[in-house]
Amino acid sequence: PAPGWTVQADVVVVGSGIAGLTLALRYAGLDPEAKILVVTKDVLSSGSTRWAQGGIAAVLDPRDTPAEHLSDTLLAGVGLCDEEAVRVLVTEGPDALRGLIAMGARFDTDEAGELQLTREGGHRRDRIVHAGGDATGAEVQRALVAAVRESGIEVIEHALVLDLLKDAEGRAAGVTLHVMGVGERDGVGAVTARAVVLATGGMGQVYAATTNPVVSTGDGVALALRAGAVVRDLEFVQFHPTVFWLGEDASGQQPLISEAVRGEGAVLVDADGTRFMRDVHELADLAPRDVVAKAIMRRIRATGADHVYLDARHFGEEKWRTRFPTIHAVCLEHGVDPVTQLIPVAPAAHYASGGVRTDLHGRTSVPGLYACGEVACTGVHGANRLASNSLLEGLVFAGRIAADIHADVREGRAAAGEPVPDDRPTGLIDPRARVRIQGHMSRGASVLRSRESLGEAARTLLNLRWTPVAVEPCTESWETTNLLTVASALVAAARARQETRGSHWREDFSERDDALWLGHLDVTLTAEGP
Ligand code: SIN
Repeated sequence: PAPGWTVQADVVVVGSGIAGLTLALRYAGLDPEAKILVVTKDVLSSGSTRWAQGGIAAVLDPRDTPAEHLSDTLLAGVGLCDEEAVRVLVTEGPDALRGLIAMGARFDTDEAGELQLTREGGHRRDRIVHAGGDATGAEVQRALVAAVRESGIEVIEHALVLDLLKDAEGRAAGVTLHVMGVGERDGVGAVTARAVVLATGGMGQVYAATTNPVVSTGDGVALALRAGAVVRDLEFVQFHPTVFWLGEDASGQQPLISEAVRGEGAVLVDADGTRFMRDVHELADLAPRDVVAKAIMRRIRATGADHVYLDARHFGEEKWRTRFPTIHAVCLEHGVDPVTQLIPVAPAAHYASGGVRTDLHGRTSVPGLYACGEVACTGVHGANRLASNSLLEGLVFAGRIAADIHADVREGRAAAGEPVPDDRPTGLIDPRARVRIQGHMSRGASVLRSRESLGEAARTLLNLRWTPVAVEPCTESWETTNLLTVASALVAAARARQETRGSHWREDFSERDDALWLGHLDVTLTAEGP
């Protein structure tokens, strides 16, 4: 749709989690005169970051080394990590974390004032910093929002990003937005800028049950696909093994039970009270996330139950209250006292390891368009992200992207021309399709997949795409359109990868196949779809 208003900026950052806000602050640090605009779909403090529990992984213990963090990350990624990207992550991680602390984030410390470090699945060392016990994301978000508010960086809230604007040379020149507010910036508008950064987070809402908040509808990946950018590794959706089981029909955002609970000694048991991870992996309950999710699903199938349990009764009241106050409260709210009872858990969609393909400076395949955080595929996660590497990725790559854009601007390489009007029809999807997309994705393209289940999902998604309905342009219809686009791309990639690797588990191709599949699947959008 034609924009009713236009704002000019030097850099527009879409999204307000750890990636977007760190990037805006880092850019402001490099060029205090620059006009940086952060646009965010809800309010500045919403999004996935604030829900993060476990923490941020970084090599801070003198007995730990970047080489060990590298090796754990590569092992979890099952052959598909980009080793150079991981090297960047683990070597620049500690400084990036110190930068976050300098911006005001307060992490838990011991009596000597040293940062407390814990462990999560796949880590062979204690290297996870946390805040408020199990409220790390909330503290990070608080600190970043406060810093942005103080910095004078301009923010437009309630602004859903629609499409990328390009100049005549095909360079990113801004974005169109739908602002749900009042006043002069209501409705559809445009921001023109020399560089556009997508920091829109994940796409967990393509599934019925997810740990992601309601805003995680894959808007950045959908925009990038429509803009002709390459997306990569979409089949690798990570299912968090221990999400509070609220029943078979539970939908929407589900309560997470952090891996840090297992890091501190909780164990998985089945309905008979039998521990089952010891026979599965040398790290037992702290095996990488895909291994634990698969073991739980196998146990569920073998026992006919619909969930398993976490046993952390031995923590006792005091530890539950002080170390895991958020999870303790969530359990009580749902009628489970973890001090005396087992916590019912099952896997649910948690994190998109793939996304918009970038290089080591966050550049996508469209000049001037960058991607940072969960929306990006930098290559650090491969087929399965290592726990607590995601906030770290946002931090590290935000700094690199800010530096790259700044260098381009300084050296005159970042001057996009006038945006060319984009008259392509949008083809909006009826918002009522949202629950159908989620239901079909959960049945067909979830933790366990097959040719049949994926084929069924693909057919339904195709039908939804080609069913003509007159649709009112509104947030819900744009979000549903984005969900359908990313779900279709995800299913296309999952059908193509005929092997089992990391978080992509095919019933009909149950082995990892390095001879054929030690490579990536890149997806672009054509007139026929992904
Ligand atoms: C958790 O706390 O278990 C989630 C950590 C993560 O997803 O990295």
